[in-house]
Order: sequence, then C-alpha cells, then structure tokens
Amino acid sequence: MLDLKPQTFELDPIEVSPVEVIRDLQLHRLKWALQHAYNNVPHYQRTFDERGVKPDDLRTLADLAKFPFTAKADLRANYPFGMFAVPRSEVARVHASSGTTGKPTVVGYTRRDLDTWADLVARSLRAAGARRGMLLHNAYGYGLFTGGLGLHAGAERLRMTVVPISGGMTERQVQLIQDFKPDVITVTPSYCLSILDEFNRQGLDPRKTSLKVGIFGAEPWTNGMRAEIEQAFDMHAVDIYGLSEVMGPGIANECVESKDGLHIWEDHFYPEVIDPETGEVLPDGAKGELVFTSLTKEAMPVIRYRTRDLTRLLPGTARTMRRMEKVTGRTDDMMIVRGVNVFPTQIEEQILKVPGLSGHYQVILTRADRLDEMHVLAEATPDAASAEMRAASGARLVQHIKDVIGTSVGASVLEPGGVERSQGKARRVIDKRGLEKL
Ligand code: DLL
Repeated sequence: MLDLKPQTFELDPIEVSPVEVIRDLQLHRLKWALQHAYNNVPHYQRTFDERGVKPDDLRTLADLAKFPFTAKADLRANYPFGMFAVPRSEVARVHASSGTTGKPTVVGYTRRDLDTWADLVARSLRAAGARRGMLLHNAYGYGLFTGGLGLHAGAERLRMTVVPISGGMTERQVQLIQDFKPDVITVTPSYCLSILDEFNRQGLDPRKTSLKVGIFGAEPWTNGMRAEIEQAFDMHAVDIYGLSEVMGPGIANECVESKDGLHIWEDHFYPEVIDPETGEVLPDGAKGELVFTSLTKEAMPVIRYRTRDLTRLLPGTARTMRRMEKVTGRTDDMMIVRGVNVFPTQIEEQILKVPGLSGHYQVILTRADRLDEMHVLAEATPDAASAEMRAASGARLVQHIKDVIGTSVGASVLEPGGVERSQGKARRVIDKRGLEKL
C-alpha cells in the first residue's frame, strides 16, 4: 500500500503545535463558548443558574466540570430550533438525525460554522491520506444526515474532485468505481462490505481498483474489519468519527501513517471522558463516556454534550492533539446477556476470526422464561457456503464467543446474502425482548 503520510508543511500549524499552545487556545475559546451559550440560549441560562454557575466561574479547563451536562433529551425538549444561539435567519443550514423513536434531533450551522466544518473535514481527509486533485467517491447518504454533505464540503475545500453518489444502488457504485477510478472512498464500513459483495458477484477483482484509501465511520467497526477491508481492496482503511449534535463527521480522524486511534481536532472541540454512572470526570487513559464541548460553534453551541460513545483519551502521536481510542460501542448498545455485558463489536471481532464467515451479521435478543438469549446471525463467504461448512463455522463461532466473551449464544450461519443489508448505518441488534409478552 502507498505511503500517504502528509508532509508537515501541508498541515494546519495548530495540528502540530505544542500541547501548551493548544490548551491556551482552548481556555480562551471555552470562555467565549460558555458566555455565548449562556447569553443566547434560554436552556443553558436555566441549567447554569440551577447549578449556581456563571460563565465567569471558568478560570481553568478543569473548571468545566462544574458546569451541567447536555443530553439528547435536552435537544428533543427544545425541538426544533430552541437550542439555537443566533436568530433562525442567521442559520445557513439545518441537519437532523432521524432517531428510531420520537422527534428527530435538529442541529443548525451559521455560514461560519459551515466554513469551520469544511476546514475540519478537509483536515480529516488529509490525515487519512487524501490530497488535492484526487477523486473522491462519496457514498455517505446525502440529505438530513451529516455524512454526505459534510464529507462533500470538506473534499471541495481540499480541492478534490467529488462524485456525490450517496448511498444505495450498489451496482452503480461498482460501475462508477470501475469507470471514474476514484482514489478515495468515503462510506460506512457495513455498506463497504455490500459494495465488496457486488464486486465479487460481478466477477471483478476489488484489489485491482484505483482505490488507495477508504475513510469509514458513522458506526462502530473493529480492527478485524479493518484488516478484512484492507486485504479485500488492497487499500488503507482509516477511521473518521463525528456526531451531528456536535458538528457531524470530522470531529476526530485517524492518521493513515499510524492508524492508532483518532486525533480529536481539539482546537474546536474540548473532550472529556466521564464515568457514565456518576458523571465524574475520569483521567486520560481511563475508559468511559465521551463528552464534548464546542469551542467555536455559533449557531448551536453544545456544552458538555454526552455522546454515549465509550472510549478513552490518549496522548497525541502523529499529531500533538489527543487521540480517542476506536469507539467500541455506545452505552445504549450494551446488551446484558445472562449477566455478561456484551457489545456488538465484540461479536464482530469473534466472527472475523472464523474463516468462512463474512463481516455481515446481526444479533437477535429474545427473552424466554425471564432469561435473555442471544442469537447471532452470521453469513458464509461464497467459498464456504455448503451446509456442512456453515454448520462447522457456526459451531466455531459459538465456541469463540463462549471462550472469549464468556457467554453462551446460539448462532446460525446463513448463505451469502442472507443477512439484512444496510445502505448506511447497519442495524446490528434486533431486540425482541418484551415483544413476546404482547
Ligand atoms: O454518523 C456523523 C458521521 C458521518 C461520522 C460520516 C462519520 C462519518 P450521527 O448520525 O449523528 O452522525 O451519529 C453519530 O454514530 O455518536 C457514534 O455512536 C456513531 N459513530 C460515528 N462515527 C463513528 C466511528 C454521524 N468512527 C453516532 N466509530 C456517534 C464508531 C461512530 N461509532
């Protein structure tokens, strides 16, 4: 695979500034952000007052711990535009996350916010190995979801050529990859596997494409999945992280030269990791729930927003800004099966260790006699699809899960194509507990 490490002169100077310079900038910006939120958003005025804190009480970065958290429920309660800190007429764009239940979560951007976002996505793309003049196949969904338009603006900012194909129509994805010869693909890891299947179905060799880098995010994926995709396409697979409430994609990105977790763009977002039960701030290195405070956002500042994503903060390597470890799951994705805590990514890890299983999978939870049962739906690769081979890989999977995770599960290995496909974020868990009683 090509060496795509950027030269130091290609980076924004702040990416490699000494840590003290970054901390000074953060403190300066954080003071502004707290004032801005308090003065312009009734929700923050009320929650700060209830807590008995004023923006002026922040003298050091550690003082942020005195301020109240913000949760998704707060955004819902202020639906649609109640969290905006500028008049609606100053908002250049809104995005929204669909959410499986209830009202969508709405977010807004001023022109300057859109500009910052494009800069940070351009920085993320460059960290991943993309360069001016390269061609990008952008298969994240366009629309209210931040993936498509977010990557699009960043790629234009980096002066790439963008193909805004969006998600879906998998045959056409393959055709345009063959015909346009992109250097970079941006797509969810689960949908990348569907594109891979389509290459194989058409008898085309995915290792022969022009692709040099894939930039994957919007859902958790493991290093096992990275190895699988890198091997299948003969390209680098790099992680991009973000969430709409804080901005969208491009809050943190892995560097192609190190692939050791995602550098958080700390000049615009201040990260904390907390104990999800007590809310206590944990030291760097400890695992917990990631919390972000925006430092420069105008339209919708967020103060101590609880992401529900589980990770730990690590010191900088390829950049001076801190890294977050690959997100292994969300607090609300955790399944408790017979007393053992299990995340879908742990199941993914075990699946990808079994030869003959593809990366497509779903986990079905049921409850019989008040005991939770987990059943894994995995899928055979075309070369291991006979009934005997599927039974053998299923048995190995059950054994791996028992040995490594410590819980007894059932498993079915379906024929190729048997597991539900997504064109964006995969639905990994189907929770049927509670339904039996209806
Ligand atoms: O998924 C933004 C995005 C688009 C990120 C394209 C990367 C690429 P939301 O729809 O608001 O925004 O979902 C945010 O998705 O809190 C995580 O749980 C999950 N997520 C996003 N990136 C990653 C990642 C976009 N790299 C939620 N690894 C977040 C694991 C991720 N989970």
